[in-house]
Amino acid sequence: MYNILITGGAGYIGRQIINLIDKKKFNIVVVDNLNTTKKNYLPKNIKVEKINILNKKKLEKLFSIYNFDGVIHLAAKCVVSESQKYPDIYYETNIIGTKNIIRYSKKFKVKHFIFSSSCSIYGNSDGIVKENNKKKPVSYYGKTKLIGENLIKRSFKNTKIKFVILRYFNVVGADLKNKIGEIGDKDRLFNNISKKIINKNFKINIYGNDYKTKDGTCIRDYMHVYDLAAIHLICLKKFKHIKKSLELNCSYGKGYSVLDIVKSFEKIAKRKINLIYKERRNGDTEKVIASNKKLNQFIKWKPKFNKLDSMVSTTFLWNKYLNKNL
Ligand SMILES: NC(=O)c1ccc[n+]([C@@H]2O[C@H](COP(=O)([O-])OP(=O)(O)OC[C@H]3O[C@@H](n4cnc5c(N)ncnc54)[C@H](O)[C@@H]3O)[C@@H](O)[C@H]2O)c1
Repeated sequence: MYNILITGGAGYIGRQIINLIDKKKFNIVVVDNLNTTKKNYLPKNIKVEKINILNKKKLEKLFSIYNFDGVIHLAAKCVVSESQKYPDIYYETNIIGTKNIIRYSKKFKVKHFIFSSSCSIYGNSDGIVKENNKKKPVSYYGKTKLIGENLIKRSFKNTKIKFVILRYFNVVGADLKNKIGEIGDKDRLFNNISKKIINKNFKINIYGNDYKTKDGTCIRDYMHVYDLAAIHLICLKKFKHIKKSLELNCSYGKGYSVLDIVKSFEKIAKRKINLIYKERRNGDTEKVIASNKKLNQFIKWKPKFNKLDSMVSTTFLWNKYLNKNL
């Protein structure tokens, strides 16, 4: 058995990873403070420890008990707009919390480490973003993720720990069969539009229509949560082929503007959505599209849910389910 710690495993991406992991080969332990999620969103046979990653004592005890082979470190605060308002909270969880996880991974000689990073570390970029692009985060959230990456690189440098830094772009969609989707009010475009349509409110705020893009609205590269989770499993399998470390952009390499997304939602709503243009938001970048060449070379895979309409429809149907059931 391979003992694996998944911090933040009760969250959106963590639950999808756990759903896909082979439970016969992996003994999973989840660490989550459960502030924004619940234990019973995870299958009953998964061990969940309600621990804040800022609590060093509890973490040390946990690491000493389980002798983890691998860690997937997902626990973080992750809303860009919130990070601008409450930088101290983001500093604590995303930097100090990450430092703690690194510290005990080193002390208890974990072999493999996967870190959830973000495209927001690149900041404003024009066109395709490669892994070696300049890192100039605009938001405070992006800064904390970049510091997290640097801490990992520095701390694991002279150790035997192999690590993969996965830079997720924008994660969307849901696994309807297994009831996995994003929970909570995180001010995400796909969820916001879904909720409006469900509530029969067909007016949507667009923050900025004067960006230098094809239609003036921001462009982002999206990835379905199922495909993103699958990448983690491939990384776990391939650790033996990784010499030391790897940084990978995780996305499909295709940009969609806010208006492209609105149009896809209009197909579901079967009507026009009224657009209300507002000022640009502090911390938003104009256009971020991933180069996924390195990812594709490494994992040689076929994504399952890379059509915009399937990302939009699964998000919508998940929000409809949430509206009725939670
Ligand atoms: N969702 C995205 O679009 C996206 C994009 C890029 C990167 N990421 C990164 O992916 C990771 C997971 O994101 P997600 O979308 O699943 O978010 P999420 O909020 O659903 O999951 C994060 C989990 O971490 C837990 N957590 C937060 N603070 C904690 C603390 N102090 N101690 C213990 N647990 C704590 C939360 O309870 C939650 O279950 C994060 O590191 C995030 O920065 C997400």
